[in-house]
Amino acid sequence: MSRSPVLCRHALALAATVGWLATSTGHAAEAAATPSVAEQTVDTLEKLAGGPHAGFRANHAKGVLAKGSFVASADARTLSKAAHFQGTAVPVIVRFSNTTGVPNLPDAHPNASPHGIAIRFQLPGGTSTDIVSISYDGFPAATPEDFLGLLNAIAASGPDAKKPTPVESFLGSHPAAKAFATAPKPAPVSYATLPFFGVNAFKFTNAAGASVYTRYRIVPVAGDQRLSDADSAKAAPNYLADELAARLAKGPVSYAIWVQIANSGDDVNDPTKVWDNQHREVALGTVTLDALLPDGAKAEKTLFFNPLLLVDGIAPSADPILLARPGAYGVSVGRRVGK
Ligand code: HEM
Repeated sequence: MSRSPVLCRHALALAATVGWLATSTGHAAEAAATPSVAEQTVDTLEKLAGGPHAGFRANHAKGVLAKGSFVASADARTLSKAAHFQGTAVPVIVRFSNTTGVPNLPDAHPNASPHGIAIRFQLPGGTSTDIVSISYDGFPAATPEDFLGLLNAIAASGPDAKKPTPVESFLGSHPAAKAFATAPKPAPVSYATLPFFGVNAFKFTNAAGASVYTRYRIVPVAGDQRLSDADSAKAAPNYLADELAARLAKGPVSYAIWVQIANSGDDVNDPTKVWDNQHREVALGTVTLDALLPDGAKAEKTLFFNPLLLVDGIAPSADPILLARPGAYGVSVGRRVGK
């Protein structure tokens, strides 16, 4: 894919965010001397992945792209006036991925999970908006500084580290990180059988001006199906992309997109606090994928997703993790595009 004007606009938006991060102290020299939390995070992600790996994402490095469309439900517009929720079908590009910055990580490796999904809705007029989610309901850290602390603790916990290792100490004092690290995350049968979770909250506003806080849930129409441990051990390194190609050759793959609606009293700004099943859920519509994206391996180098690429009717919450994401992604994009 050549770099379209839409992608260039996204690059500028990300660059602007990163610039803001680097200079927000108002001391350019100090910012130059002390790398921002975003830069330190990308440095540590690269280190953990044995990188940097030129041209690859610092996290979610291994992925596969597909294309299709999204059709909104009648209920979607009652929650948000966003263009893609008004009922007209819009094209989508979807990238599925393994966690970590290791470009050749075997798909059934425990570190590949949680997997990622990034959905780009291509709106009329050349604009677009993204959803970027993972296959785990929750996040190990409530702030970008804590997330960096966790990554640094992992990096300092090699085979020679003294007990308790830095990561053991971190998990001991951070229950959400411990829950994230220890939750079973069995490898999926297919990307078509894996549910994904938005984790961060967004504020939806409808045409009448009424607002609710929401979290996405992306539910595979084929159901949640996982490999047994024995089948995981035998899985081919690239089985997820290969299986998706074979499945799409036989027919479309669909996901229902839902949102949970925040209850009064929920902390909408803390992604470590999972919203339980005592929350109202509304179906927003269906994503249907019909093929892998032609030339996807090349396209994914220059394509980048941004959870804060939003449209009127969807606004970010004040979740510090959500607000930090474009800065870190921008650092990664800046290092990988053109490599
Ligand atoms: C402070 C917290 C976070 C940091 C520092 C971080 C960092 C990163 C980085 C550096 C990338 C590579 C971006 C690129 O080169 O295009 C990335 C990609 C990704 N992140 Fe995060 N992330 C954070 C939180 C999250 C959360 C909360 C989710 C999901 C709920 C998430 C899901 C993803 C996914 C799915 C991708 C791959 C996107 C693609 O396919 O291009 N991340 N992240």
